[in-house]
Amino acid sequence: MCAEQLSVYDAIRLRRDVRAEFTGELVDDDTLWRILSAAHRAPSVGNSQPWDFVVVREAATLRRFADHVAGKRVEFRDALPADRAATFDPIKIEGIVESGTGIVVTHDDRRGGPQVLGRASVPETGVYSTVLAIQNLWLAATAEQVGVGWVSFYEPGFLRDLVDLPEGITPIAWLCVGPVHEFQEVPDLERFGWRARRALTDAVHYEKFGG
Ligand SMILES: Cc1cc2nc3c(=O)[nH]c(=O)nc-3n(C[C@H](O)[C@H](O)[C@H](O)COP(=O)(O)O)c2cc1C
Repeated sequence: MCAEQLSVYDAIRLRRDVRAEFTGELVDDDTLWRILSAAHRAPSVGNSQPWDFVVVREAATLRRFADHVAGKRVEFRDALPADRAATFDPIKIEGIVESGTGIVVTHDDRRGGPQVLGRASVPETGVYSTVLAIQNLWLAATAEQVGVGWVSFYEPGFLRDLVDLPEGITPIAWLCVGPVHEFQEVPDLERFGWRARRALTDAVHYEKFGG
């Protein structure tokens, strides 16, 4: 489907966390820039725009990160009870090398100076803003038929060293980004029996929580 024809509702419906469906081709630079532009248009507390994007394509760096993530996967798996480990085993949790492009999304809490309008009593609004940039990126990529997979099986210190993050810059996500041959209709974790989606009726309350 052409990007102009996809409504925001279509993109929300089609968006998937992608692990196994990357074609192995690289996302082209113009498309990547459009996707990053969409991320950069996100709302942010006090208009602080606390995000940055580190685009990683060096094969050796992708490999090093993939090896680190593989180790964290084993740690997680080994801490599971036997039945959950059996459910987890076939689930792929990243497409770092196959996607060919990693985007490290970072957060700078000092961006916007000492008085960020709106953040005084809810400091987390800074990180919320960066996460909104990620969601914009994810939806724009979907509209471009480009897959995104969020990887969080890593030690933040490892990722910081891998891409030379300066003091005060926090890694928020590693995103695997690349063209896909399809988007699954059902999330992988549901397809593999790990955890299903909740019904909207369970998530919406009226007047009081639980109401
Ligand atoms: C903060 C965050 C971290 C995630 N980390 C991982 C991860 O490390 N590996 C993975 O395979 N999926 C990861 N995911 C993807 C979720 O598993 C996925 O979004 C969820 O199962 C729903 O599937 P869907 O995104 O296809 O709708 C992450 C998603 C979020 C929002």
